[in-house]
Formats: sequence, C-alpha cells, structure tokens
Amino acid sequence: MKRVRKCVFPVAGMGSRFLPATKASPKEMMPVVDKPLIQYAVEEAVAAGITDMIFITGRNKRTIEDHFDKAYEVEAELAARGKLDLLELVQGIVPKHINCIYIRQPEALGLGHAVLCAEPVVGDEPFAVILADDLIDAESPVLEQMAQMYEQHQCTILGVEEVARENTRQYGIVKTDGGEPGVVSAIVEKPQPRDAPSTLAVVGRYILSGRIFSHLQKVQAGAGGEIQLTDGIAALMRDEKVLAYRFKGTRYDCGSKLGYLQAMVAYGKKHPEVGADFSAYLKSL
Ligand code: G1P
Repeated sequence: MKRVRKCVFPVAGMGSRFLPATKASPKEMMPVVDKPLIQYAVEEAVAAGITDMIFITGRNKRTIEDHFDKAYEVEAELAARGKLDLLELVQGIVPKHINCIYIRQPEALGLGHAVLCAEPVVGDEPFAVILADDLIDAESPVLEQMAQMYEQHQCTILGVEEVARENTRQYGIVKTDGGEPGVVSAIVEKPQPRDAPSTLAVVGRYILSGRIFSHLQKVQAGAGGEIQLTDGIAALMRDEKVLAYRFKGTRYDCGSKLGYLQAMVAYGKKHPEVGADFSAYLKSL
C-alpha cells in the first residue's frame, strides 16, 4: 500500500491580480492576519503526514525560502530580549522532521509545467499538490481528508466543490458518475458556462499518481496558451481511475481581492488574540 509523503507547491506565478503588492514580493507571502498563505498550505501538508515539501519557485521568490529557513538574527534578538513565546513561534514554522526542497521553474509555462518540474524529486510515487491561493478553512485539514481517502482508494483524487455556472471559466471542471467520491469521466480546463460538463470545479488540492509525469511530458499548450495540469489529468484518466472528492471545509479564493478580504475577515474573527475585538469592531460598523 502506498502513502503520500511528498507535496508540490507551485509558487512561481507572478501574482498580477495583486499588483502593486506583488511587484517585489511573492503573492504566497501575503498574510491572512499574521501568517503567510504559503505557511497555511505547508501546515495543511504537515497535518496530512507529508514530510517532503517541494516548492516550484521562480524569480522574486527568495522570501519563501527564507521563511522556512532558520533566521539567526531574529532568533538571537528574540532570545536576548527574553521573548521566548515569539522565539518558539518563529522556530516552530516547520517541524524538524520536514524537508524543504526548492526547484526553479525558469519560465512560467503553466501549472502542468510547474508540476512536471517536480519529477526529478518525486519519481514515480503518488504525491500531493496544494495551490496556496486556495485557502481552505476546515475542521480536519483538507489534504488530511484526501490522504485518508487515498489510503483507501490508492488512485488520483481531486478536491472539488460546486461553483456558480457563470464562474466555470475560472476552473478545471469535472464530470463524474455522481458517486461520493465520484469517478471522473471528463475534465476540461476553464470551459465557457454553456460548454461546461457540470458545475463541479477542481480547487487547489490534488493527490496525483506518479504516472501523471509521463502524460505531462506530452501535453501541448492548452487553455490560455499554457501547459495545463488539467490536460495531463485528462490523459491519465484514460489509463487509471481518477476520483473527485467534495471536501468538507470553506474555501477562500485568495487569488482574488474579494476572496482574500473574505479570508481576512473569517480568520480575523476567530484569531485567539484579536478575534473578540475584531468581531466587536465589525458589529459596530
Ligand atoms: C488552476 C487550475 C484549475 C483549477 C484552479 C483552482 O487555475 O488550472 O484547473 O480549477 O487552479 O484554483 P488558476 O487559478 O491557476 O488559473
């Protein structure tokens, strides 16, 4: 029986929807309250039992590497000032048993290409992919839900949720046999509402069979002129079972300004330090 031990985080994207904030710093480092998006993603992977975090990075992304590395100056300063709670916070960003691996994607050729860049490290094992933009608030972290499902089914699993028909052009859309989890019979990248085979959208959580790489190597540029992960999955589906899993949780699309603001409000309201005061403030508005 196989277990998922590796997770790929494609973080090379430019983040143009958040310019000018993302002109010189990565969108994945934007905080929701006090934690950057990429840290929420890594924590979710840790909760799912993943030990190898593989970041597909690009230009201007050095702060992501620094964030998960030891910070001698900050740590020495906090220790000298006796701020031990903050020291613990900074030192505990990634547990000691976790490996962080960085691969540069020289050109942003699409999500499928980004995932393919991980092949030398992943090999033919099953692996997870988290898109940090999709922040999902859940009692049991979504990747943990999916890893449990993987133990049972041992095949590719896509995290999905219903979206409004007018929004199908923002997502990979799947058609399933209606089961729970559903067997996927078709997947299309960003279809127009009238062409969409359903309104079930793939969001940024995947557990993929290692055989996806051989398909991604052959995929041609698709929607938006990019090498799409969706097209690799469509090819994989001809040989292997692919399941769609409706996760339990609330997703915030932090790649959009509205979704990011909604996440900030939701996480702000339940933050242990400021939650009560922030909720009172919102009520007073
Ligand atoms: C990517 C994928 C798409 C998926 C979406 C989820 O699109 O290509 O299939 O539904 O993430 O957030 P992007 O948002 O990068 O354009």
